[in-house]
Amino acid sequence: GPIICVVGARPNFMKMAPILRALAEHVPPLPFLLVHTGQHYDRDMSDQLFDDLQLPRPDINLEVGSASHAVQTAEVMRRFEPILDTHQPRCVIVVGDVNSTLACTLVAVKKGIAVAHVEAGLRSNDRAMPEEINRILTDQIADRLYTTERSAEDNLRREGIGLDRLCFVGNVMIDSLLHSRAHARSFLETLRLSGVDYSLFGVSKPYGVVTMHRPSNVDQPETLRGLLETLAEVSKRLPLIFALHPRTRANIEKFELSALIDSSRMVLLPPQGYLEMLGLLLDATVVLTDSGGLQEETTALGIPCLTLRENTERPITIEQGTNTLVGVDRNAIISGINEIFLGNGKHGNIPELWDGNTAKRIVADLAQWMQS
Ligand code: UD1
Repeated sequence: GPIICVVGARPNFMKMAPILRALAEHVPPLPFLLVHTGQHYDRDMSDQLFDDLQLPRPDINLEVGSASHAVQTAEVMRRFEPILDTHQPRCVIVVGDVNSTLACTLVAVKKGIAVAHVEAGLRSNDRAMPEEINRILTDQIADRLYTTERSAEDNLRREGIGLDRLCFVGNVMIDSLLHSRAHARSFLETLRLSGVDYSLFGVSKPYGVVTMHRPSNVDQPETLRGLLETLAEVSKRLPLIFALHPRTRANIEKFELSALIDSSRMVLLPPQGYLEMLGLLLDATVVLTDSGGLQEETTALGIPCLTLRENTERPITIEQGTNTLVGVDRNAIISGINEIFLGNGKHGNIPELWDGNTAKRIVADLAQWMQS
């Protein structure tokens, strides 16, 4: 049978796109089916990204949608099982750490179908993060583990995972970044496409980019209020472009915090397409985020990143890259911004094997491994 490639949520799409290209370009080509679980389903959380990344349309969409963790995970499992029965794949490829990643891994492994996990071994050591649970369990049962940075090896060894399952290949998301970089949209074009009349705003270069969506940051009114107040303060110094995840937008409304960010120094945008976000990043002075992917993308682009979390599963972005952990503490965030204004922002280095060829290495290894 074919290789089944699984995507579910926004951060999966940029990781899978280069893998599909490499499968098609392999000699001989390795046939695959693309399964979208439908965990993310809005146009701006899903379809737009397929266009931007030149991802083929999914062969199968399981249309699970949003629900509690238990229901969402269970629905993916229930709907994925018959797909495996019908297509008898020789292998399943999953990426990242979302609920769809774990759900599909669990189903495949119990049917005796080999699973390859791309972006294995990352650990925040914070089990309150839903993704951490997904990572630990996926790596425990997947058959082949592709890692993005060397720290993953220690994490996996500590969990008793045989190192013969590991293959250090670098970061597949950086493949997408380098592939798309020349097509990024300009800052002004992006604002125009989002219907923002920038002449009404005091927003111009330099500017900062903000994204946040982690439950730990946006699900409690006090935490979200504190963060928005700090961002408002930052925006007096540096205008901010804030791309709002649906979860964050809903909570700002629910907790009645909209007034805090109603400012001519802050532009609120819906979730952005990949080429729009890339364009915003390329010209940004700083990125403030709780995203995993953006910590890596800013490191690859040499742009200072202040991460609104207490920990990171991607330590290489701190040790070698441009990332600084600032948590949700006002003083830490403000002093991070001050350092950047003083010219002390991190420039960083490109981590090992973040070179745009990771997907090729994965597919070369996978082809060999499936034969043995
Ligand atoms: C998921 C991932 C997270 C990833 C994030 C990126 C898990 C556990 N979390 O979080 O790791 O960083 O995606 O975006 O898998 N919603 C929409 N439209 C959509 C999808 C979601 O409006 O297309 C809203 C719904 O109200 C939904 C909420 O967002 O309830 C949360 O969606 P969900 O997929 O459960 O998790 P994310 O917070 O997006």
